Amino acid sequence: AGQSQDDLKRIAALCAVELVRSGMVLGLGTGSTAAHALDRIGDLLRGGDLRDIVGIPTSEWAAGIPLTDLAAHPVVALSIDGADEVDPTLNLVKGRGGSLLREKMVEGASRRFVVIVDDSKLDGIHGDLQAISDDLLRITGVVEHGMFLGLATSVIVARKDGVVLMDK
Ligand code: A5P
Repeated sequence: AGQSQDDLKRIAALCAVELVRSGMVLGLGTGSTAAHALDRIGDLLRGGDLRDIVGIPTSEWAAGIPLTDLAAHPVVALSIDGADEVDPTLNLVKGRGGSLLREKMVEGASRRFVVIVDDSKLDGIHGDLQAISDDLLRITGVVEHGMFLGLATSVIVARKDGVVLMDK
């Protein structure tokens, strides 16, 4: 009771950080939910509970995590990021934070891409995202859009009554 949407975002983020192991190359997401995860990873690094982490950023916010890039690390072990919408097949709409191209490159290069959301991101989802994507990409000049199809490997949803894991 009494949990705000931001509390739920933090809960989902902390669950995802449980998956982080020392030595990993991480994809660092953008937005208010991802920021909770990055803050936590930064704290664990400073406290010595995690070591040898490098992150590939998709925004300016990196919470003190040492940074690298895809040229140096073309394979990313784990990306953690939020989303604007999540559909039942784990397709996503993203990009409200303005980083969608970087996100798609980093998350597309990741072995695991864990999405962290509060349950509001499951409401009001669009129709068939694949069909919308196909229609958009047929328009000359459209090179990219914010639909992330088949990229997420799991979604952690924080709800007032507990955390739900959506897996492939
Ligand atoms: C960034 O470009 C976006 O894809 C964000 O990941 C998305 O907008 C979710 O943001 P919040 O976690 O702030 O809701």
